[in-house]
Amino acid sequence: MFDKEKQKLFIGSDHAGFDEKAILHKWLEEKGFNVVDLGCFNADGCDYPDIAREVSEKVLEVEGAFGVLLCGTGIGMAMAANKLKGIRAVDATDESMAVKAREHNDANVLAMGARMLDVAKMKEILGKFVETEFSGEERHQRRVDKVEALRDVK
Ligand code: RB5
Repeated sequence: MFDKEKQKLFIGSDHAGFDEKAILHKWLEEKGFNVVDLGCFNADGCDYPDIAREVSEKVLEVEGAFGVLLCGTGIGMAMAANKLKGIRAVDATDESMAVKAREHNDANVLAMGARMLDVAKMKEILGKFVETEFSGEERHQRRVDKVEALRDVK
């Protein structure tokens, strides 16, 4: 059964999502989640691939952990995170995408665009993402396995 106190979340942003990261971090903690902020730690310009890497490496280290990545659009963070084998990142723009990303794709990283979405919308998307379990259905697991196998294609 889903247990939010045991659900470890690693959160990160570049400068474009810095303010929203602080808001979402506090909101998640108030909801009882175990959240670790991996930067950036000020609003100076920084490079989203560096933060995507930090968060993704932690997600891979801690079994069952999720990552939350914020940049201007969510695109760069998702692209960068998906370079790591075992990361399934989605740039979700509404709640139904977040639900399907978990139920069908077993996504373990949620990217969002802080310049695309207001904070209320981000909370709705994030709330759905962290509370939805992977369906575990054979057809979805088979497809997720095939996605993972693509990492080995040269
Ligand atoms: C930074 O200006 C912006 O490019 C970045 O936050 C992100 O949107 C990239 O995908």
